[in-house]
Amino acid sequence: MHKPKLSIVLKVKLINKFDMSPHKVEIFDTSLRDGEQVPGCKLNTEQKLIIAKKLDELGVDVIEAGFPMSSPGDFESVAEISKLVKNASVCGLSRAVKNDIKIAAEALAFAKKPRIHTGIGTSDSHIKYKFKSNRAEIIERAYAAVKYAKSFVEDVEFYAEDAGRTDNAYLAKVCEAAIKAGATVLNIPDTTGYCLPNEYGAKIKYLKEHVKDIDKAIISCHCHNDLGLATANSIEAIINGARQVECTINGIGERAGNTALEEVVMILKQHPYLNFDTSINTKHLFTISQLISKHMGISPQPNKAIVGANAFAHSSGIHQDGVIKRRDTYEIIDPADVGVTESAIVLTARSGRAALAYKAKNVGYNLTKLQLDEVYLNFLNFADQRKEVNDNDIHQIIETSRVYREI
Ligand code: KIV
Ligand code: ZN
Repeated sequence: MHKPKLSIVLKVKLINKFDMSPHKVEIFDTSLRDGEQVPGCKLNTEQKLIIAKKLDELGVDVIEAGFPMSSPGDFESVAEISKLVKNASVCGLSRAVKNDIKIAAEALAFAKKPRIHTGIGTSDSHIKYKFKSNRAEIIERAYAAVKYAKSFVEDVEFYAEDAGRTDNAYLAKVCEAAIKAGATVLNIPDTTGYCLPNEYGAKIKYLKEHVKDIDKAIISCHCHNDLGLATANSIEAIINGARQVECTINGIGERAGNTALEEVVMILKQHPYLNFDTSINTKHLFTISQLISKHMGISPQPNKAIVGANAFAHSSGIHQDGVIKRRDTYEIIDPADVGVTESAIVLTARSGRAALAYKAKNVGYNLTKLQLDEVYLNFLNFADQRKEVNDNDIHQIIETSRVYREI
């Protein structure tokens, strides 16, 4: 029998690897539910509708529109968003309580793709102190809630609140009950943001390997940022088998916030070898970040990844020189990919000649080497007294430099 040469076998294997279609990771946006729980950031129905429309255009798979049982206003928002949204599933939160579930179903009545998100706390601390219950009873309540939600909609997501601090073997039993009752998605929240990435990843792997009939549902990760690990934990979860990420624009959310949508999406995009894909149109990321900031009244910190004011700004001489020569020397993302017009060169006392010449050219001066030497000295004296030097300042510094006037 003819045996193919080893090199040919290797080549075929490589081609197959790169031909593999990427695994789709569903993006579940909860800016309008978990995100809106930030003190002082409450939105009215009109604002929620504007944001929901943009989220749908952005390409998210699920919009968690609110918690219909929590107030008449939130009920109205979920109902109106259900009528408006064309592509994404619309989801309403409920506790594992019959009346909550029924009200969520009513609010979602007009959604093209309705999803009820119901669940209960599963950590010993929740079971003992919040519910004054026991493990067996919580499993029964989880089962009953999903079963009841299934009587209204096909798509039911179950959350095991505080799953991050829930014992894995018990969590697996709760998940099995939820799947048996018909859950399509299992949400494993690290509610308190306590887990380390390797722990959280191992939890997802454990569930993939130990929950009976796990292939009947997808695992969703829902991380909080109390230790600044929400994004890292979500990525570990995806690598270990989660196929839905719950996140918010700008990472807004209670306390230190939730996983930032823009971070997860750009990590997956910038690391194609991980072989994961989302349906997000990344060019809308900056605009929607600004929209959320405007309506919620809080902006991301300037150094916030992807959407912060300084995410594509360069102020030190060495970096500016590198970026002016070739953008990707100091930028791993093309700003245009996230809807930012261009990288910013910000002049400060740490800037060098290259940046000054570049900015001077932008405001209309082509300085010779001799001119630049003197203008640069004047610039440094000026910049030492300021935080930043703007275009008007450059204009002034050049016009008042002796060497410039003489030439
Ligand atoms: O953080 C959490 O546990 C939640 C659930 C209600 C899904 O937001
Ligand atoms: Zn949460």
